[in-house]
Amino acid sequence: MADLDDLKDGSDFGLGVDVSHQAFHVKGASNLPWGMKDRLSRIFHPTTRKTVMLAFDHGFIMGPTSGLERIDLSILPLIEYADCIMCTRGILQTTVPPHINKPVCLRSDGGTSILTELNDNVLMDIEDAIRLNVSAMAVMLAIGDPAYEAKTVANLFQAVDRASRYHIPVMGVTAVGKEMIRDARYFGLASRICAENGASIVKTYYCEGFEKVAAACPVPVVIAGGKKLPEKEALELCYYAINDGAAGVDMGRNVFQSSSPAAMIQAVHAVVHERLTPVQAYELFIDLSNKEE
Ligand code: 5RP
Repeated sequence: MADLDDLKDGSDFGLGVDVSHQAFHVKGASNLPWGMKDRLSRIFHPTTRKTVMLAFDHGFIMGPTSGLERIDLSILPLIEYADCIMCTRGILQTTVPPHINKPVCLRSDGGTSILTELNDNVLMDIEDAIRLNVSAMAVMLAIGDPAYEAKTVANLFQAVDRASRYHIPVMGVTAVGKEMIRDARYFGLASRICAENGASIVKTYYCEGFEKVAAACPVPVVIAGGKKLPEKEALELCYYAINDGAAGVDMGRNVFQSSSPAAMIQAVHAVVHERLTPVQAYELFIDLSNKEE
């Protein structure tokens, strides 16, 4: 039986992780209460400090977009390879079996579709997030959008106020308007605003100078994959993002629109958690794809 001295020395108590944590393994979370830390630990691995979130919330603005027509067929087989899933409550309750017991980062805001202006303007009740036993709530911020910036910042603010009562972390999702310049200055600004308004995780995009975006954000930054890229390029994107300080990925289309989604998510996982190089990860992707055939 380990004693207090073992704790000081960082005994793992047979758990395989250092439980002495002077500093908690999630950036910016050391001063948060137990419930927050527990939920963040479900998302970010205690040893690698990273996460692979599988995003399939796109339907809330795009409808049955390519790869998400039949989530039961396309997404459910991938969930075992993800550390966390990101989806809407509609899909969670209708399509994701509760017994999979994966941490859920719930898309918690809603608004208009791609057919009109792209903006989010309503926030779900905190009670529903609690009932659904979510590990985090995701809320979008449209920084720089003259019409919707204020509304979306207010949404995030309100989500943090409500969620923190129940020790539920909030992830700020930086939406990028067409007129915004996708550079480190913009993503740095948007990410920092999320964190300053209380987000415990930020989702943004990779860009040149990303190391400055990650360094200036006091909470973990995960990157979205964006539009579908060739698999090799998507794996390079993951690799460079992690190298430059990302705490993981929250990836959708580059996984579920891949020619081999299960192989792709495993290759992404290996880059994020095992630091495979893009060449090694692409080899793994090809290898796994061939085995699937
Ligand atoms: C949509 C989202 C998506 O979850 C996010 O963009 C990640 O997906 P992808 O990797 O396909 O970009 O937040 O609003």
